Amino acid sequence: MYIPQRHLDNLRSTLKPGKVVVIYGARRTGKTTLLRAFLQHEPQPYLLVSGEDITVQDYLASQSIDKLKAFVGSKRLLVVDEAQKVSQIGLNLKLLTDRHFNRMRPSIAPWKIPQPT
Ligand SMILES: Nc1ncnc2c1ncn2[C@@H]1O[C@H](COP(=O)(O)OP(=O)(O)OP(=O)(O)O)[C@@H](O)[C@H]1O
Ligand SMILES: [Mg+2]
Repeated sequence: MYIPQRHLDNLRSTLKPGKVVVIYGARRTGKTTLLRAFLQHEPQPYLLVSGEDITVQDYLASQSIDKLKAFVGSKRLLVVDEAQKVSQIGLNLKLLTDRHFNRMRPSIAPWKIPQPT
């Protein structure tokens, strides 16, 4: 049973073309669930990937415009779950938004907050 998340409305109102939205949260607080709930009503073609996937890491850490563009193809929205697993994800998403997504939909990148030790 899905319990409505108020951050769903926050996410809808925060997303703007050419912008990256980062979702931070401690473990098991519903970041992936929030993404999936959001994407259920997303009318544009999107790409949902996980930063735990080594192939995804290869593309999204590349710092190569050609490789980044080839990865997203014609998709209008990129969603990277477990984004903290991708090296230099901030720089790579900046390259993508500046050079490719600037007139398109933004990216969403949930980041897990490390647990206190
Ligand atoms: N809004 C919700 N309604 C019902 N169940 C939820 C909701 N949000 C999260 N859950 C449940 O809580 C658990 C953790 O949720 P989820 O996997 O989305 O968290 P997460 O923040 O992505 O976790 P992780 O940091 O491990 O990736 C899952 O079993 C999920 O089904
Ligand atoms: Mg998750």
